[in-house]
Amino acid sequence: MEVREVAAGILLGAAMLSMTGCHRPPTASSRRSTADQTLPPFKAVASIKELMDSTVDPSADGVWDSVGVIVNEAGTENRQPHSDAEWHEVRRHAVSLVESMNLVMIEGRHAAPPNSKAGLGELTPQQIEAAIAANRPEFNQFAAAVRDSGIEAIDAIDRKDVKALTRVGGDIDQRCEACHVTFWYPDSQRPGA
Ligand code: HEC
Repeated sequence: MEVREVAAGILLGAAMLSMTGCHRPPTASSRRSTADQTLPPFKAVASIKELMDSTVDPSADGVWDSVGVIVNEAGTENRQPHSDAEWHEVRRHAVSLVESMNLVMIEGRHAAPPNSKAGLGELTPQQIEAAIAANRPEFNQFAAAVRDSGIEAIDAIDRKDVKALTRVGGDIDQRCEACHVTFWYPDSQRPGA
């Protein structure tokens, strides 16, 4: 009788222990590990400078070069995509541009590869990194603005609307510059400034 009571006591104790185990409020470290599991394992490999050079700039060029008026010795050419294949090619560039802006927002990117030198009027890579760290939301907003214009470009492409694509191309240019004059060369003399 006495033994069974003790055994029951142990069982009850074990049950309570496991209950408190279940209902333990999450500690800082257990919360962090849950968040880690939901975040994709992004790894920023390229610097911002390399990302600009390898992805952002070529895809923006692909959009800009697809439309416009070219005047040269041969005469005046109104450039625009003609075939479905040509429109598809421009669309590829617009899609790359949009997604490249998501890449720009990934944290932990260096501004430039080691030993990069700043050009005249440009912040050093260390200064760029400090400026971004001090104002990450603004940096992300500039990237999101280019991304939004890129989405508009895709829409214009899908409608084969040359006028709209030309206008959006101008918006993209201004939005690239907005980030550059804030985080890259804030001390440069701007025309009319
Ligand atoms: C959110 C901010 C941001 C946006 C938006 C942005 N850039 Fe940049 N870009 C930078 C920074 C910062 C640098 C300077 C990196 C460095 O030199 O360390 C840079 C550098 C560059 C460079 C120089 C690359 C090299 O090899 O020296 C080019 C070209 C460039 N950007 C093109 C563009 C174009 C085109 C767009 C728009 C389609 C754009 N950028 C949008 C932040 C931005």
